[in-house]
Amino acid sequence: MNIFKIIVAVLFWMGQVKLCVTIVNKYIVFMRDSLFKHVFTIFFGLFMTFWFPLFLILCHGTVLAQNLLLLHPVGVFEFIMLAFLVYGLALLIRANVTAIYKAIQNPLPPQARLIMHEKKASSEGVFWRKPRFPLFLENLLNAINDYYNLEVNVYEIKSPGLPPSFDGFRLAHITDLHLNHYLDPRFYDFCIQEINNLKPDLTVVTGDIISRKKFGPNAAFILSRIDSPFGVFALRGNHDFWEDGKKLRREIMKKGIRVLDNKSIEIRKGRDRIRLAGIEHPWKKLKTWDQDIFPQDGMYSVCITHTPDNFLRAERAGAALTLCGHTHGGQIRLPFFGPVVCPSRYSRRFDQGFFQQGGALLYVNRGVGSTVPFRFRCSPEIALFILKC
Ligand SMILES: [Fe+2]
Repeated sequence: MNIFKIIVAVLFWMGQVKLCVTIVNKYIVFMRDSLFKHVFTIFFGLFMTFWFPLFLILCHGTVLAQNLLLLHPVGVFEFIMLAFLVYGLALLIRANVTAIYKAIQNPLPPQARLIMHEKKASSEGVFWRKPRFPLFLENLLNAINDYYNLEVNVYEIKSPGLPPSFDGFRLAHITDLHLNHYLDPRFYDFCIQEINNLKPDLTVVTGDIISRKKFGPNAAFILSRIDSPFGVFALRGNHDFWEDGKKLRREIMKKGIRVLDNKSIEIRKGRDRIRLAGIEHPWKKLKTWDQDIFPQDGMYSVCITHTPDNFLRAERAGAALTLCGHTHGGQIRLPFFGPVVCPSRYSRRFDQGFFQQGGALLYVNRGVGSTVPFRFRCSPEIALFILKC
C-alpha cells in the first residue's frame, strides 16, 4: 500500500467517525433517555467508527478497496460507496475550516469584553474524589480529565436598550450541574462559593440540574445557597424532564428558587424594568412560545433556555441576550476533530461561548457537570455578565 492510499484511508476513516458523531448529536441524542437509546447509540457509534477499517482489513488487495483508495470508482456501487466516504470527509474538512476561521477572527462579538478569566484547578487545597473508570483507564483518564478544572469567566456586555438603572447589573449563569454519584458534592459547594464571590445581583440556572431523580433534594439545597438579591431563577433541561421534572420543580421551589417554565417575569430596579424569560421548549412542548412570552413592547429582554436551538427564534422574538447550556462545550474537544458531544439541531454550530445574530447575543455555557465524568480540553465553567448601557 503506498503512502497516498494510507493517507486516503485515514482521512476516510476520520470522516466516517465525524459523520457518526454528527448524526448522533443531531438526531439520536434527542430520543428519550432509555436502554434502547444507549444500545442504539453504542451500536451505531461502533458500526460507523469501525466499519471502514474492518472493510479495509477484510477486502485488502481487492479491486473494490483499490478503486476506493485511488478515488477511482468503477460502477454504480463503488460510486455510491465513494460518495458516502467523501461526504464524511467533507464534514471533517468543513469543521476544520470553520474552527480555523473562528480562531483567526476575534472570538468575542464587539458588544462583549472579557474582563476576568480565572482557572480554579482542583488542586487548590481540596482533594475531591476522582471519577471512577473501569480497569487501567482510571489513572490514564483522570490524568487528562478536566472535570474539576473550573473556569470563571466575567464578561461586560454593552447592551443597547438597557434601562439606565440596570447599568452594571451583574447576572450570574450556572448550568448543567448534572448532579449524580460521579461528582464529589464538595465540587458543587466550590462552584456556589465562586458564584457568591462574584457578587451577582441575579443568578440563572439553565437546566440539566440533575442526572438522577434522587439527587433533586441535594440540588435544591445547593442552589439555595446562591446569594443574589434579585433571586435565583431556574428552568429544566432534558435530563430533568427524563428523570422527574415535576418533582424537581417542587423541590427547588421549596428552597426559594423560582422556576421560569415557559414564562417571563419583569425585574424592577428603581423606575426601570427588564424582562427575564425562561424557555423549556422543546422538552415541554409549546408551539407559540415566542409570541406568548415576548410581547412586542420594546422592553430589554434576557432569554434563558437549556438548548442553543432556541436562540434564532428568541432573537426574532426580541431577546437581546440568550443564555443556555446543554452542549457542555463539546465536553471532549479533539484536535482536528473538534467538539465530540454537541447535542443540537445545528450540530457543532453553537458549541460554546458567544454567538451573534443581528443585534442579539447568545452565550453557550459549558456547564459544570455531565453524565459521563470525563472532559478533555473543555473545562467546566461558571460565567458572570455585567450589563452596561
Ligand atoms: Fe447537560
